[in-house]
Amino acid sequence: MQASRYAHITGWGAYVPPRCVTNAELSQLVPTSDAWIRERTGIETRHIADDEDHTSTMAIKAGRKALQTANLDPGRLGLVICATSTPDYLMPNTASLIQDGLGATHAAAFDLNTACSGFVYALSVAASMLRSGAYDSALVIGAESMSRVMDWTDRTTCVLFGDGAGAVVLQASERPGGVLSFRLGSDGSGGDVLTVGMGTRNPITPEGLARGEGPFMKMAGREVYRFATRIVDKVTREVVEDAELEIDDIDLIIPHQANIRILAKAAKQLGIPIERIYSNLDRYGNTSAASVPLALVEAIQEDRIHAGDHVVMVGFGGGLTWGATLVEWTYDPADREWSLWQRGLQGARFGLAGVKSFAHRAERGVRFWEIRMRRRARRRKKAEENGADKAATNGQLKD
Ligand code: ACO
Repeated sequence: MQASRYAHITGWGAYVPPRCVTNAELSQLVPTSDAWIRERTGIETRHIADDEDHTSTMAIKAGRKALQTANLDPGRLGLVICATSTPDYLMPNTASLIQDGLGATHAAAFDLNTACSGFVYALSVAASMLRSGAYDSALVIGAESMSRVMDWTDRTTCVLFGDGAGAVVLQASERPGGVLSFRLGSDGSGGDVLTVGMGTRNPITPEGLARGEGPFMKMAGREVYRFATRIVDKVTREVVEDAELEIDDIDLIIPHQANIRILAKAAKQLGIPIERIYSNLDRYGNTSAASVPLALVEAIQEDRIHAGDHVVMVGFGGGLTWGATLVEWTYDPADREWSLWQRGLQGARFGLAGVKSFAHRAERGVRFWEIRMRRRARRRKKAEENGADKAATNGQLKD
């Protein structure tokens, strides 16, 4: 790691699908109540994607906003990382779809799946790659379509989750600050506590679907609760110590938004007022890898983060996995307001991205067509030569 390079958050953006579902609506679907959900979790509403929105499309919308805030040309972006456990496909990876959608034509792209701690993992990986000198900029996205892996007859899970995407732009600079420390962890022995069993080991079959098996989230809620209340306190203390700071130096903690009781317990364990732990869980529910960046963007919009602040982001979830990242905030949100023409220029760049992507697809289509035509011509020529040889042989036999 080059000591003189730092990774700063220079842009941010979020997107949630427009359809907002209340607890009362869910109580018509499964035997639950607004009172139970509010009291046990703190959730009041969540946003659910319609047929138009997918993990990649929500990520592209959030990514565009982040690039606009950073005023960064997508063509200059070095890296796109998408943290998700609900990818559009097993292949191609979602980050490549995002890279294409944004016109980030020179960026490397990959997905990262550590469930709800995915964004914190991705941020740490991107910061390390920037600090090493390998890249100068990265777009880090957390995006999820949790509603697509819900069993809408299971009240123990379907009331908890929501859909959405949040993104940040990281840029390298010699100016001190930005990502100061991170800690990541995993305990695979708890893998069965939180699962979406779909995969090559457990393919979906018509027989399985008939038995009610499907690509659904299953969660041992109490186990996750116990794990979460232990790990948030531990990993937060670790990143703070790594950055040679004290808990009192932290202006805001942005944890994964799973349950308000987990956040309240973390505040108590850390000995800080609950106000220093940001929460927007009431409006979005648990959006898995999207929850930390969604909360970060809203905290910025609510004027809760300023230049010079120390912010800790904490994730925990399936795997089991966990992580925390400590950031010294360097770019004041007020400095990120761009003029009308600068925003217009960004809009034109995104428009151009669509045209370029179409042109690449068309070019590839023409190339495939040419190859097919050449192969067909070769086969025809060979068949004609074979026919001529046969005729000659038959003639010789007759003679
Ligand atoms: N409405 C009404 N009753 C319900 C509901 C519901 N939606 N869900 C469960 N219940 C019932 C149960 O059936 C049970 O009834 P019983 O006593 O008759 O058997 C009772 O409520 C208590 O159930 P518990 O599961 O013990 O409830 P608990 O208080 O533990 O709350 C919850 C459940 C909210 C899931 C909690 O355990 C929790 O928040 N866990 C952590 C989840 C989390 O952090 N996830 C993050 C990771 S997600 C990821 O990585 C993708």
